[in-house]
Amino acid sequence: MRILMTGGTAGIGLVAARRLLKDRALLAIGARRPDRAPADFSGRVDLKPLDLADLDQVRAFAARIAEGPPIDVLLLNAGLQNVSGGRSRQGYELTFAANHLAHHLLLRLLLPRMAPDGRIILTASGTHDPAEQTGMPPPRHADARRLAHPETDPDLDRSAGVAGRRAYSTSKLCNVMTARELARRLAGERPDLMVAAFDPGFTPGTGLARDYPFPLSLVFRFVLPLVVRGKRVSTPANSGRLLAQLAVDPRWAGARGDYIAVRGRGLESVPPSALAQDDEACARLWTDSEALTGPV
Ligand SMILES: NC(=O)c1ccc[n+]([C@@H]2O[C@H](COP(=O)([O-])OP(=O)(O)OC[C@H]3O[C@@H](n4cnc5c(N)ncnc54)[C@H](OP(=O)(O)O)[C@@H]3O)[C@@H](O)[C@H]2O)c1
Repeated sequence: MRILMTGGTAGIGLVAARRLLKDRALLAIGARRPDRAPADFSGRVDLKPLDLADLDQVRAFAARIAEGPPIDVLLLNAGLQNVSGGRSRQGYELTFAANHLAHHLLLRLLLPRMAPDGRIILTASGTHDPAEQTGMPPPRHADARRLAHPETDPDLDRSAGVAGRRAYSTSKLCNVMTARELARRLAGERPDLMVAAFDPGFTPGTGLARDYPFPLSLVFRFVLPLVVRGKRVSTPANSGRLLAQLAVDPRWAGARGDYIAVRGRGLESVPPSALAQDDEACARLWTDSEALTGPV
């Protein structure tokens, strides 16, 4: 089984990658620094350079991957939270560009390479849903052009930290909407493909808060795992195990744009936010994202 991952070098994705390797998957990972990948990947994982903050690298990566055999599982798990106003190589807001636009382009480039009954999974987040009250500023809209160029957004938050965190929850909304729109588009020509958005639950202990002020990133990595509990709270080990399960377990083969969330020790298919269920908004996000990333 050939599995292609982004975000397999740390946190939740690293746990999932190791699980999939145990199941003897042929694993390829796009990584920012292949030379710094975990030592146990050596000789077992096909590591290829990929920085999602640069759409040219996404195209080069996809071209290299397309040379190999068909892809059974495309696991788009990489994610970041930029709270310091960063931009991608193409000048788009960094979190939106890396978490959403780059994955949108990558999956469009690799769709023709998907094996029969293949799976496409995008890691999203409960922060996309205002009703979940996660403590993150929730998305206000999914207008790709305003998200790519936040300086044109009349509602932009004044604080860079708030704006960055809202850009994150919004990028995760875009992941959910992309999964739904992709499934709708595939219904005619590739109804065999499984498509899902994955919510790992609140999972402190990973590197996700690395761009936060240093004390806060330490709290996220070392303190919160000791003190937060709940059905929607998870650990990297638990969420990574469940992400690997979603990638291969026959139980989930019928997902067609479903939003599948970690709840305690298991996975549940749950409704996403109201905006994520707006089919017109999902279709618009898709075409606007195409315009921002270019033809394939
Ligand atoms: N932790 C949570 O509470 C939580 C909750 C909901 C959803 N999520 C989602 O879960 C996924 C995994 O996050 P995590 O918590 O495991 O965080 P993490 O430990 O920071 O891992 C993130 C992964 O994404 C990769 N990545 C980040 N920026 C990249 C870029 N520009 N180009 C290529 N790869 C890049 C990282 O690679 P490097 O090794 O190069 O850094 C790493 O492998 C993300 O999509 C995140 O949004 C996390």
